[in-house]
Amino acid sequence: MNDSIEKGNMLPVAAATMQREEKRKEILANFTSRPSDILISTVQKAGTTWLQQILYQLVSGGDTEFNSIEQVVPWLDWPSESKNTTEIIDVFNSLSDPRIFKSHCFYEDTLTFKGVRFILCSRDPRDVCVSNYYHFINLTDEAKHILKVPEDTSFDVFFERWMKMGLWFNHVSSWWPKHDDVLWLRYELMKRDLPSAVDSIIDFLKWGVSNEIRDRVIQHSSFEWMKNNEEKFQLHLDNGQLLVNSNSFLRKGEIGDYKNILSIQQQDRIIKRARESLSADCLAFHGLE
Ligand code: PPS
Repeated sequence: MNDSIEKGNMLPVAAATMQREEKRKEILANFTSRPSDILISTVQKAGTTWLQQILYQLVSGGDTEFNSIEQVVPWLDWPSESKNTTEIIDVFNSLSDPRIFKSHCFYEDTLTFKGVRFILCSRDPRDVCVSNYYHFINLTDEAKHILKVPEDTSFDVFFERWMKMGLWFNHVSSWWPKHDDVLWLRYELMKRDLPSAVDSIIDFLKWGVSNEIRDRVIQHSSFEWMKNNEEKFQLHLDNGQLLVNSNSFLRKGEIGDYKNILSIQQQDRIIKRARESLSADCLAFHGLE
């Protein structure tokens, strides 16, 4: 087994998933962006679904009748295996404006996207690592089988793989030179003050939003509301089955959960790597200086 890890789900890459990576690149190359598009670009487990929900709530005026966030805010860079590239692009082209996409794109993936507005959210890498681990161990048996996930991965084994892959460090370094051109939120600040985060999104998009809708957006984007409606936020396999076991996708939604599982040495290694990879202003932005 190749020991690199695919961008989509922190899984070891087998031959089949290398094909998916090729298809991912093909989709990004054939994607025709529109100036009204909004692209969420987070690293995995840093607040992607939360941003999907806030943006969908804003654009829909607080709709609660949608079945699945995947349908209303589709995932740009995780190609379905049951559709070919043309079919996938046709679905994207059929969406009405403003289109909102989820992605885990690096800046370099988006060079051909003209006029698109990018919204990022980053999260303490120690919490991202831990959230990633629980995502991994809570994959359904079917997902583990289809995605060929190794059995019995201990946290320490997962940690070494996560560090080796370095997605958090690479994603932040990739986007940081563009930070003046995007809206860059932080998970921790959103947790502490969700209304301010929603206001900064409204300002960035220059959307007129009534107080009534703003209140609804905030209410429907709370962890409690999303947890109570978890079926709307679950990820699915191509065959419609769950990717992650029920009750584990919106797991805890806390700041500092890493202290319960990362050893002091593991915490130090993440911080050291961040300090080696990121500029001083980027570290200060993340409170990691
Ligand atoms: S994914 O698989 O990459 O799309 O995952 P992502 O959505 O980026 O991250 C999942 C984590 O985000 C937490 N989450 C929230 N936290 C606080 N408030 C709200 N509303 C919220 N929505 C999602 C979710 O619980 C995951 O974090 P952990 O720490 O695992 O609970």
